[in-house]
Amino acid sequence: MSFLSSYVGFLGAAYLWVKAAHVTFVIFWIAGLFIVPRYYIHHQATTPGSAEDRAWLQREDRARTIILTPAMIIVWVLGLMLGVHLGAFGQGWFSAKLALVVLLTGYQGWVGAYGRKLAKGHRAIEDKQLRLMNEVPGILTALIVVLVIVKPF
Ligand code: HEM
Repeated sequence: MSFLSSYVGFLGAAYLWVKAAHVTFVIFWIAGLFIVPRYYIHHQATTPGSAEDRAWLQREDRARTIILTPAMIIVWVLGLMLGVHLGAFGQGWFSAKLALVVLLTGYQGWVGAYGRKLAKGHRAIEDKQLRLMNEVPGILTALIVVLVIVKPF
């Protein structure tokens, strides 16, 4: 993207600090994406309206608002800053990484939507499918890390 070319290197000596912060918030984000759907598996086993059901709803809500949403926003902002700094837009590894991170963000949308269903007392999918959905962030994370570290293309 040529209009960004004048910003290449704009982070200067802060580049590695921004990258360190990016990776730290990536860890918070992915930890949240691992834990909340794992909560859902335990939550589904409770009776809608019970005290246990309400306790899970509160835990999930806290994890989403304190960890998931802020960490996701910070990862995106710092990641895009790094992309501009490196002039990475248009490079193969960066485009592929962006596509996978969009999928990961979409996964977070699903996590939020499923939480709202649980809050209404719906157990929309079977435990087995929920366990399969739990694998999604791990797989995407592995692919994203290979893209950003190996930069195979
Ligand atoms: C949200 C959008 C994201 C953008 C725009 C983005 C962009 C970037 C950029 C441009 C770099 C610098 C690469 C370099 O210095 O060579 C970077 C580093 C890194 N990113 Fe992201 N990233 C995003 C999300 C993620 C996610 C979700 C993960 C992991 C699941 C991740 C893992 C990493 C790692 C491990 C590094 C350090 C790589 C190194 O050692 O150089 N990023 N990111």
